[in-house]
Amino acid sequence: MTKAKLSYGGKDYDLEVMEGTLGPKVLDVRKFYTDTNMFTFDPGYTSTASCESKITFIDGEKGILLYRGYPIEQLAEKSDFMEVCYLLMFGELPTREEKDQFVHDITYHTMVHEQITFFFRGFRRDAHPMAIMVGVVGALAAFYRDSADITDPHQRKIASYRLVAKMPTLAAMAHKYSTGQPFIYPRNDLSYAANFLHMTFSVPCEDYVVSPTLEKAMDLIFMLHADHEQNASTSTVRLAGSSLANPFACIAAGIACLWGPAHGGANEACLRMLGEIGTKKRIPEFIARAKDANDPFRLMGFGHRVYKNFDPRAKVMSKAAREVLDELGVDGHLFEVARELERIALEDDYFIEKKLYPNVDFYSGIILKAMGFPTEMFTVLFALARTVGWISQWGEMIADPVKKIGRPRQLYTGPGMRDYVSIDKR
Ligand code: CMC
Repeated sequence: MTKAKLSYGGKDYDLEVMEGTLGPKVLDVRKFYTDTNMFTFDPGYTSTASCESKITFIDGEKGILLYRGYPIEQLAEKSDFMEVCYLLMFGELPTREEKDQFVHDITYHTMVHEQITFFFRGFRRDAHPMAIMVGVVGALAAFYRDSADITDPHQRKIASYRLVAKMPTLAAMAHKYSTGQPFIYPRNDLSYAANFLHMTFSVPCEDYVVSPTLEKAMDLIFMLHADHEQNASTSTVRLAGSSLANPFACIAAGIACLWGPAHGGANEACLRMLGEIGTKKRIPEFIARAKDANDPFRLMGFGHRVYKNFDPRAKVMSKAAREVLDELGVDGHLFEVARELERIALEDDYFIEKKLYPNVDFYSGIILKAMGFPTEMFTVLFALARTVGWISQWGEMIADPVKKIGRPRQLYTGPGMRDYVSIDKR
C-alpha cells in the first residue's frame, strides 16, 4: 500500500494513496481530522473526490468522457438513449432481450397519476418550467409511496424506472401548461424520444407525425446529457440522498441545482447571448467584455470546471446542429455566429491561457431552438436527460456499504465567543 507523508508540528502522519482504474490517484483523508485535529480546506471541491464511483469517467485535460468505460462519441454514433440508460443503471450494455424488457418497463411507467394534472393547475401559467419541475418531481413522493422504501432494492429499481419514465411526461406537461394547450397522454408505440416530442408538440385536434430527424436529434441530446460524473447537481442528489431521503425528493434537489446559469441554465443563457450578439460584426465587442476583469459578463457555453480541452459533447453537438438545421431548412444564422465566435475565441490568448473551450451548452440551444422548443424549456430537457445519471449515482450510493451522511466542516472566520449584550446597551 503506497503512503504519502505529511509533516506538521513536529509530527509525521501517513496518508494512504488510493488508485482507481483511470484518473488521478487519491489521498485518503478520512481519518485526517481524528489523527491531526485539522480539516482540509477545499471550497468548490476542486481537489476533492467526494465518493468512489464506477459509472462515469472524465479526463478533462484530454477531453474524454466515458459512460461505464464506453467513449461518448461511440455511444452517440452507435447506441441510443434507452441503451445508455440501461448501461448507466446496471453497468453493462443490455442483450437484445434485456433491452426489450427494459424499454417495455420504462414505456409502461410513462403515465403519471391523474391527480398530478390538478397539482399543475396551482402554478401560474407564466411560471418558469424549471420552477414547476422542482415542485412536481418532489411531489411524486406523495403519489408513489409504494416505491419510497430505499432499503428495498426492488422499490429502488421501481422508483428509478418511474423517474426516468415520467420525466418526459412531466416536462411536456410543464410546456403545455405554459401554452394553455391540453396535456397530451403518452403513447406506448413510440420511442422514448419520439413520445416526448409527441407529448410536447402534438394537439388533440390533429395528427402529429414525429419527424425521424427530430427523434434522432432528441435521442442524441438525451444521450449526451445522461451523466457527467460528480458535477454540482449530481453531488446535490448524492448529498440529499445521503440523509436517506426518498429518491423523488433527491432528484427534485438535483433539478434545483441544475437550474442555475453556471450549470444547466447555461444553454438558455448561451442562446440569449448569441441572440444579443446578433451578427458576426459584434463578436469582438463581446469577446472584449468577456476578457474585461471589471465586467461580470462571461462567454456562456465556454469554459468548464473539468474540461481544459474541447468538451467531447460539444463536438458531437456541433455536428448534430449542422445536420438538424440543414434537414429542417431552418435559418442557420445563430449557428454561423456561434461558429465564428468559437473560431475567434479559440485563437485568442485569454481563452488559450485559461483553457476555455466550448462546452456542451454552446451548440445545444441552437438545436433545441431549431426543433421548436422555447428557451425556457432548455434546462428542463437537460434535467430530463440527466435524471438517469442522477438516479444511477443515487442507487450506487445507497447500495454502497460504506455510505455516510454528507457532512462537510468549515474554516470558521466569524466572531470568537462573546457575551450577549441586552438591546438597550447596544
Ligand atoms: N468567459 C470568460 N471568462 C471565463 C469564462 C467564460 N465563459 N469561464 C471562465 N472564465 C475565466 C474566469 O473569469 C477566471 O478568470 P481569472 O482566473 O482571471 O479569475 C478563469 O477563467 C477561471 O474561471 P472559474 O470561474 O474560476 O472556473 P470554474 O472552473 O470555477 O468555472 C464555469 C467553470 C463553467 C462555471 C465557467 O467556465 C463559466 O461560468 N462558464 C460559463 C457558463 C457555462 O457555460 N456553464 C456551462 C458549464 S457545462 C454544463 C454544465 O456543467 O451544466
